Amino acid sequence: MNKNLFIQSYGCAMNFSDSEIVASILKKDGYSLCNKIEESDLVLINTCSIREKAEDTVRKRLETINIHKKSKPEMVVGILGCMAERLKEKLLNEEKIVDIVAGPDAYRDLPNLVKNVIEKNEKSVNTILSLEETYENIEPVRINSNGVTAFISIMRGCDNMCSFCVVPYTRGRERSRNPNSILNEAKDLFDKGYREITLLGQNVDSFKWSPENNNKIKLEKQSDKSGIIYFSDLLEMTAKISPDLRIRFSTSHPKDITNDVLKVIKNYENVCNYIHLPAQSGNSRILKKMNRTYDREWYLNKINDIKSIVGDSCAISSDFITGFCSESEKEHIDTLSLMDNVIYDYSYMFYYSERPGTLAHKKFKDDIPIEIKKRRLSEIVNKQNNHSLVRNELTIDNQYKILVEGTSKKTDKYLRGRTSENKMVIFPKRNNLIGKYVDVKIKECNSATLFGELC
Ligand code: SAH
Ligand code: SF4
Ligand code: F3S
Repeated sequence: MNKNLFIQSYGCAMNFSDSEIVASILKKDGYSLCNKIEESDLVLINTCSIREKAEDTVRKRLETINIHKKSKPEMVVGILGCMAERLKEKLLNEEKIVDIVAGPDAYRDLPNLVKNVIEKNEKSVNTILSLEETYENIEPVRINSNGVTAFISIMRGCDNMCSFCVVPYTRGRERSRNPNSILNEAKDLFDKGYREITLLGQNVDSFKWSPENNNKIKLEKQSDKSGIIYFSDLLEMTAKISPDLRIRFSTSHPKDITNDVLKVIKNYENVCNYIHLPAQSGNSRILKKMNRTYDREWYLNKINDIKSIVGDSCAISSDFITGFCSESEKEHIDTLSLMDNVIYDYSYMFYYSERPGTLAHKKFKDDIPIEIKKRRLSEIVNKQNNHSLVRNELTIDNQYKILVEGTSKKTDKYLRGRTSENKMVIFPKRNNLIGKYVDVKIKECNSATLFGELC
């Protein structure tokens, strides 16, 4: 019997990628994707816990789903992802509508959990974290695919314990996926016409595969005699699949991105000229309190390494948090000056949101008033907008090779694609270009987008 599955994802790219794995697991159990809640038998929400607001958004969403469930009581509702892992069975009490709670490592169990609800009319919970699960043999159903770009998850979990962050608790320990299965997935995507893949992990640069994990696998390249495969090796092996396959990766913890990785970016035209290197703060005392393991000077040296090995044209973006515990005005100004120093192409910026159970919650006081957190945030946002414009203006009158991803979101008379530096370019439409590389000359820009013409 064919049943309908509605699945919605919040949070980071890992969650969107996981939802594709979930769709694949449930497909084998007879579920097809459906984009109407009211026509679905199973409704799954893949959730994020990174900030309080992210959780509030999910709770609001549950209210609207509740309206549908009232007129269709047999509909099964499940919470997946980080909120499921953080709150576990508590979610069942707090949100009466929820039938299933499944953490990020429990997705293979979903068919059983659903069956339990339907056949025994029991609520089901599985939030067991795994040391091994990478879902490596599951071929994702590409849900939101444009047929051109796709995510490949290469590692899971995080061992870093930044003091503000809930991820180590919701995603468990770090583990890397078998590189053969990663390469096969990438080759398969390329054969199907995809032209860009993003290698995903909370901490991609700490990808590490040693033969002890599985001594039966043989790979064409092994970086040293011990046979360990590091992220730089994986990046190079993926780059070699085809010069027409663009490779991106996210996210890099500054402490883990090595010069070997930077050299691969430099040496392979198809490894994109873009690094997301979250700084979080520009002040060394705050960085220490955040447990980021680097200080301001060390981070700036890393930026210098990028500029000297990859070159000035390499785009760099960051994440920042304002108003972390005890951050003084002067320490906030250090973040602004770090930004002036680097001139990022882009940043994701947030004010600090205390998360239960984290080191910062246990050890420090969340003592910066919300108005100050928000004011500091608006200061870094304004600065970033100026810097994004400065960086984008440098592209004017230059020519870029872009990969066409689809029609412009605003008008179908225009197409959109990205440069290697991850900048979105809008240009007048011509037929049959989606999924192709084109050369575009940039004519205008704002802080978010470039506007160009085909060469
Ligand atoms: N693994 C990635 C980050 C994942 S979370 C990395 O280490 O770079 C994405 C971003 O959310 C973080 O970089 C941080 O800037 C922000 N963030 C995490 N926890 C937060 C919190 N408690 N409050 C506000 N922002 C937070
Ligand atoms: Fe969170 Fe830090 Fe891990 Fe990133 S590296 S997921 S910020 S603990
Ligand atoms: Fe959110 Fe979990 Fe990703 S907390 S940012 S969905 S790893």
